[in-house]
Amino acid sequence: MIEILSSILASDVLNMGADVRRMQEAGVDSLHVDIMDAHFVPNLSFGPAVSAALKKEFPCYHQDVHLMMDHPENYIDTFIANGAGAVTIHAEIPGNVQEILGHIREKGIKAGVSVKPGTDAEAIRDLLPLCDLVLVMTVEPGFGGQKFMPDMMPKIRALREMGYQGQIMVDGGINAETAKEAVAAGADALVMGTALLKAEDPAAVVKACKALGD
Ligand code: DX5
Ligand code: ZN
Repeated sequence: MIEILSSILASDVLNMGADVRRMQEAGVDSLHVDIMDAHFVPNLSFGPAVSAALKKEFPCYHQDVHLMMDHPENYIDTFIANGAGAVTIHAEIPGNVQEILGHIREKGIKAGVSVKPGTDAEAIRDLLPLCDLVLVMTVEPGFGGQKFMPDMMPKIRALREMGYQGQIMVDGGINAETAKEAVAAGADALVMGTALLKAEDPAAVVKACKALGD
C-alpha cells in the first residue's frame, strides 16, 4: 500500500481549509505539515496553531508533522497535543536524536527520522529500530516546487538492504513520474506539494501514484 500525503506548504494560506478539503476529496490519505524555523532551513513556515486548527476542522485526518528545526524537543509535545499522528525530526540536528525518537514513540504516535540529501543511509543505521518511518529528502529541505534529485534513490535501496521494513517516505519534487522511481527503489509513502495542489485533476495524480503499489 502506498500512502499519499499532501503538503500544506503548497496550499493557498488564506484558503487552507478549502485546499485540504479538495485534497481529501481527491483521495489523499494524510496531511504533511512542514514546520520550518528559519535556522535549520532558510525559510519560516507554520507553528503548532496550524496543527490545532487543522485538527479541529479535520479531526479524523492523519497529520504527519515534518519538523525542519533545531531543538524539536521543545515543540514535540505541543504538536502531539494539537493533533499530530506522526512526528519526524531530522538526523542532522544538535541534541540526542535517539532520545527524542523514543519520547515520540512513548507518546503513542509514529516517530520518524529525516535525512537531507547530504546525509547517507549509514548515518542513521542505529536509529532505524527506533523509527516507524524514514523520510528521505529528494530536494534540499526549505522550499516547495524544487526539482527531484534522482541520485537519492540508492539511499532508499540501501535502507531496504539494511533490512528496514518501516515506511520509507520521499519528499521533494514528487509527481506521478518521479514517484515511479521512488517506489521502484523501495519507497512506500509519497509527499506531494506542488504536484497535487497545483494539479488540474488531483484525483488522477492520486490514482496514478496509488497504482504504483499494485
Ligand atoms: C520541502 C518540504 C516539502 C515540500 C514539498 O522542504 O519538506 O514537504 O512541501 O513540496 P514539492 O512537492 O512542491 O516539492
Ligand atoms: Zn516535508
